[in-house]
Parts: sequence; structure tokens; C-alpha cells
Amino acid sequence: MNYRIHLLIEMMMNKDIKILAIESSCDETAAAVVLGGRDVRSNVISSQIALHTLYGGVVPEIASRKHIEKITQVVDKALLDADMSLDDIDAVAVTYGPGLVGALLVGVSFAKALSFARHIPLVGVHHIEGHISANYIENADLEPPFMCLVISGGHTHLVMVNDYGEYQVIGRTRDDAAGEAFDKVARSIGLGYPGGPKIEKASKEGNAKAIEFPRAKIEECPYDFSFSGMKSAVLNYLNGCKMKNIEYNPNDVAASFQAAVVDVLRDRALLAIREYGIKRFAIAGGVASNQTLRHAIEEVCKNEGVQFYCPSPIYCTDNAAMIGCAGYYDFIKQKRSAMDLNAVPALKL
Ligand code: KG4
Ligand code: ZN
Repeated sequence: MNYRIHLLIEMMMNKDIKILAIESSCDETAAAVVLGGRDVRSNVISSQIALHTLYGGVVPEIASRKHIEKITQVVDKALLDADMSLDDIDAVAVTYGPGLVGALLVGVSFAKALSFARHIPLVGVHHIEGHISANYIENADLEPPFMCLVISGGHTHLVMVNDYGEYQVIGRTRDDAAGEAFDKVARSIGLGYPGGPKIEKASKEGNAKAIEFPRAKIEECPYDFSFSGMKSAVLNYLNGCKMKNIEYNPNDVAASFQAAVVDVLRDRALLAIREYGIKRFAIAGGVASNQTLRHAIEEVCKNEGVQFYCPSPIYCTDNAAMIGCAGYYDFIKQKRSAMDLNAVPALKL
């Protein structure tokens, strides 16, 4: 039987599969219950942002300890909100990479313990696959093939989603991730952590044309990204102002930097849409919650006659619903993880 038809039949037969998903790759302890891959019955997120803000960024050891403190409550609440118990759950899906090793280990160990004690199948999920799959949650019509721009704190990937669980990375960052650049620039202009939302807010009060920051291109790899030069240009600009005793406007810096990032992401999206003859284009990851970026990519898609998809902001930043969604498609493709599942901090897509 044709593989795709086989998968469709599996999906129809398994539309009531209930996945308990766990995510702890960075600074959010999250659990969710997802039915049939797209129906989110609960989505609990315990954010550690307030704690890490004191240090200007995520402190890995603190993140791991906080995950340990929170994970039982978060999983219990996800089951309670979904009005279910562990007896109802068909599989436990858990992020096993990429991410901070200590943070990942908390989720992986917890999921393994649940799986072992309650004889529930275990599915290890790739975090980026989760971000991409967040697009399925609110778009019943979305199916592969489509292209997805994944922009988070740790990753900037342009990915061709050929089928469920089948990815071809056509572009990636050569240095900093887009979100990382937002965080570093925010810190340098005194906005604090996490940088993305703070830069977005400050940009609303600033002039995006005030300062011309570079838009890097990598000649032989037109779909790759580089954000470290842009970040250095911001630092040079700030140092220059300080040395010359010129007062700078942080809102203008924020708006001009955001405009440069959006330009780069929009240009790569447009190039890829045209070259690959894309009909459906999605965005994902924390940076995808940026409204200026969403509108810019949406406009490109509209002009090119391409269907545009983006998750609600709550499904852009780290959450477990997206892991439940990706875990469902892995599960119906018979993927199972054993008790030797380990955290893989640099897991490749
Ligand atoms: O996907 P995510 O929650 O975690 C990772 O997998 O890394 O992404 C977090 C990143 C942070 O760098 C944060 O500054 C950025 O997403 N971010 C934003 C916005 N909200 C979060 N960047 C730009 N604009 C935003 N509104
Ligand atoms: Zn993430």
C-alpha cells in the first residue's frame, strides 16, 4: 500500500490517541495532553523567566533545579486540566534534544519513570520537530509538504517538511540564532532578558530607519543566515556613541535592529518560496511570535500567492503541546523509545 495512504488510515484509526507530552529543554517546565495530534486538551507552562532575569540570561544549573521542583506539579495539572488520569494516556512524549543537558534530563528521566512504572509507551521527540508541529495545532488543513522557518533562541533553520517526521534543512545560521541576537542586543541596550519581547515593545516607540545595520548574505549558501555581524554592528554603534559622548535612543536601536533581522528573514523566505515553488509556508519558534516579523512574512506569502501559517504566540515559545503533536505523528509511525533514551543536547534534525 502507498505509504501516504497507509499513514492517513493510521491517522483516522488513531484520532483518539492521547499523548501526555513533557518539555524541559530550556527555561520552561511544560506538560500537555494532546488528542489525535492536533486537539490540545491541556497546556501547562511554568516559566522560569523571572528567576533568570536576575542574571540576564538562562543559568543552566538553576534551570535544571527548577525543573525538578516543578515537573510533578506541572504534569499533574496537565492531566487535571484535561480531565484525565494516567490510565487514559496512550503514550508519553518527551523532548530529548536539542537543549540544555541538565534541563533535558529532568524531563527525560520523569517520562521514563512514568513509562516504566505505568507500562505506557515512550516517544522521544526532537525539540525543533515540536516547534514545526506547533503549526498543526490550529490549522486542521495543514499537511506536508510545506516549508517552515524555525526561529528560536537556539536555532534558525529553513526546513522543507517533506512528510510527517521527514525534514530537509535547506538553510541554517552560521553563528548566532535569531533569538540569541535579540537577547544579546536587548542586554546591550539595557532592556534585560528575554530580549525578543522587550525589543519588540521598544521598537514600537523607535524609528526603524534611524540606523542602518548590516544585512549579511552568505554568497555560496543563499539560504544560510548570519546574525553575529549584525549584533557586533549594534555593539560598535553603542560604543561609538559612548566614546563620542553622543546620547543614543535605545528605542531607535531596537527598531533598527529588529528591522534588519526581519529584512534578512523575509528575504530568505522570499528566495526559498520562489526557488522551491512553495505553496505553503509556515513560521515557528519563539521569534515567530514577533508581530512585525509575522506581518512581513505574511505579506511576502500574500504577494506570492502562498498560504501562510503561524502558531498563536503561546505555541511559538516553548510549550509541551507542540511536543504532543510531533509525538503523535512519531507514535503512529510506530516510533518507540526504550529505557536507554538519553538527553542529546546537540541533536540534529
Ligand atoms: O522557542 P523558544 O521559546 O526557545 C528556544 O527553543 O530557544 O525561543 C526563545 C527565543 C528567545 O531568544 C526570545 O528572545 C525570542 O525567542 N522571542 C522573541 C519574541 N518572543 C520571544 N523574539 C522576538 N520577538 C518576540 N516577540
Ligand atoms: Zn524552543
